[in-house]
Amino acid sequence: MPPMEPTEITAGRLHLRPFTAADADGVLAACQDPELQRWVPVPAPYLREHAAEYVQANSVEGWRSGAGHAFAVLDATSAELLASIGLPRRDDAAGIAEVGYWVAPGARGKGVATQATLAVARWAFGALGVQRLEWMAETGNVASRRVAEKAGFTIEGVLRSRMLRRGGGRSDAWIGSLLPADLP
Ligand SMILES: CC(C)(COP(=O)(O)OP(=O)(O)OC[C@H]1O[C@@H](n2cnc3c(N)ncnc32)[C@H](O)[C@@H]1OP(=O)(O)O)[C@@H](O)C(=O)NCCC(=O)NCCS
Repeated sequence: MPPMEPTEITAGRLHLRPFTAADADGVLAACQDPELQRWVPVPAPYLREHAAEYVQANSVEGWRSGAGHAFAVLDATSAELLASIGLPRRDDAAGIAEVGYWVAPGARGKGVATQATLAVARWAFGALGVQRLEWMAETGNVASRRVAEKAGFTIEGVLRSRMLRRGGGRSDAWIGSLLPADLP
């Protein structure tokens, strides 16, 4: 990934910023969740060293070096780590990026993913000049699809055999897109 200037975004009750070493415990706890492991290609078993690598790659230094660009999503009041969201794939020349997210099990069902997706979309369209934001999920991930729909993405169809599954095998993926004009 190209290096990026570290960014912070405040969106309602959420605060998005690069990860710090202090987030490793929260990442480690969230990534034990079977539902997260089912749909996100994280290592399994997910160990402390994986969390340490993740927060380092997505820290201020990681953003600057291009190692990673994910945001830690915090409760703006309590500073509790709620989620991670980022643009795991970006083609700046084509003006296309893909958004990816997970939410800690205890923070789900409260609109965190939807609100964070909208905040990242506004930033991508504004600061990064993205013209098409893509969302992809393994078919059957209805919670992720619901988030995309609530954020205004148009679900465009199924990409056959698009995703590599942990341990081998492939699966189909839903794909959707959000364009700048789709935002309220
Ligand atoms: C998908 C995920 C990020 C959603 O986070 P969240 O903060 O709970 O999302 P929101 O609260 O913004 O919205 C969730 C929506 O999905 C719905 N939903 C949740 N579980 C669902 C299920 N099993 N079936 C159908 N809908 C479901 C909720 O009802 C809600 O929709 P509603 O507001 O219309 O009721 C979270 O469940 C998660 O981290 N899952 C595991 C990791 C993952 O799948 N990441 C995405 C990979 S593409």
